[in-house]
Amino acid sequence: MVPPGLEALAAAELEALGASQVQPLRRAVACRTDAAAYYRLHLQARLPFRLLRHLARFPCAGPDDLRHGVLAAIDWDRWLPPDRSLRVEVSGRSPAFPHSHYTALAVKNALVDQQRQQWGQRSSVDRDDPDLVLHLHLSAGEAVLALDGSGTSLHRRGYRAAMGLAPLKENLAAGLIGFTGYDGRQPLLDPCCGSGTLLIEAAAMALGRAPGLEVDGAPVPDHARGRSFGFHRWPDFDGRLWRHEVVAAAALARQTAADGSPVPAIIGRDLDPEVVAQAGANADRAGLAPWLDLQVGGLDDLHPPPGPGLVVCNPPYGHRLGEPEALEALYAQLGQVLRDRCGGWTLWLLSGQPKLTGALRLKASRRIPVSNGGIDCRWLRYDLR
Ligand SMILES: C[S@@+](CC[C@H](N)C(=O)[O-])C[C@H]1O[C@@H](n2cnc3c(N)ncnc32)[C@H](O)[C@@H]1O
Repeated sequence: MVPPGLEALAAAELEALGASQVQPLRRAVACRTDAAAYYRLHLQARLPFRLLRHLARFPCAGPDDLRHGVLAAIDWDRWLPPDRSLRVEVSGRSPAFPHSHYTALAVKNALVDQQRQQWGQRSSVDRDDPDLVLHLHLSAGEAVLALDGSGTSLHRRGYRAAMGLAPLKENLAAGLIGFTGYDGRQPLLDPCCGSGTLLIEAAAMALGRAPGLEVDGAPVPDHARGRSFGFHRWPDFDGRLWRHEVVAAAALARQTAADGSPVPAIIGRDLDPEVVAQAGANADRAGLAPWLDLQVGGLDDLHPPPGPGLVVCNPPYGHRLGEPEALEALYAQLGQVLRDRCGGWTLWLLSGQPKLTGALRLKASRRIPVSNGGIDCRWLRYDLR
């Protein structure tokens, strides 16, 4: 499962990390992996929300089909003995199953009824920290049952305790940076950086920091720790293989860009001192504070380092923050300042309001549709002259 708009980029990411038969879908990517690659994706993929493991696809026209399909999907004695807790998630819908809550109950009931018959006991449902998470996806006449091996959504990397208003999700931010082609070899500037998500994700990418490692982990790969994922509690979890992948992921961390050159300035600015402090705390927790130069300030005294470089920007766009007139003035000033001071640079701006982007008085050379928290947005590229 990936953010809408990032499917093709995520497919390329998964393929590069060892997945095969990769196919972008809507808000998701289908692929095949072995266990090692499944662990690797959890450690290194920056774009997915979750990585589901397919169990079964079956026709599902009513409750009997659902019960039979679920019970036949897998060896439940092994995967769900009664001392293990579960949670069932349902997505999609079909005419026979209009209410996902009741569908989830039907899946759970099929499993616990069988357990009662067989063991005289049943699994409990645990919403917060279950041993096994099942995911049922319904479409017309058909169901797909999967295991959710991720646990907490993968966009929560663990570095962001502090958030400004309207923060980007970490995986969306990583995808936006991915579109720019940033590789840590040019200066990077975010003039409205908020809690710093774009810059922290960019720095992590430039420096080879795997998002699935504990952020306070040891610098020596052999001592690195991976974050805790749902598949750690699966009966076929292979601890040695996991360890191998953790060490391999930790060994990717560098103090330089991939070609060995020093990473130039990564500058974040925001008018609000509180959010700049949050950005600093987040960067610190991510182990990336030394690479970020965070400044309190507006556009008047924005002085970019020698370029050319890359400006990334997620300015307020009015759905959640700011008044219309003030916002138009902000965009006009942003366009002016960047035209005057960043000739030769490339700007990527996340727009949720076409009217506001007009005030920039710049012409976009690429427009990539993405969704930010349900708001239809465009990630716009401008070549500043
Ligand atoms: C949508 S938020 C950015 C969120 C950020 N991408 C994150 O993930 O936390 C927009 C930010 O622009 C800042 N801002 C508004 N007007 C500004 C100005 N004139 N100069 C600099 N920053 C400004 C706000 O303080 C706010 O933090």
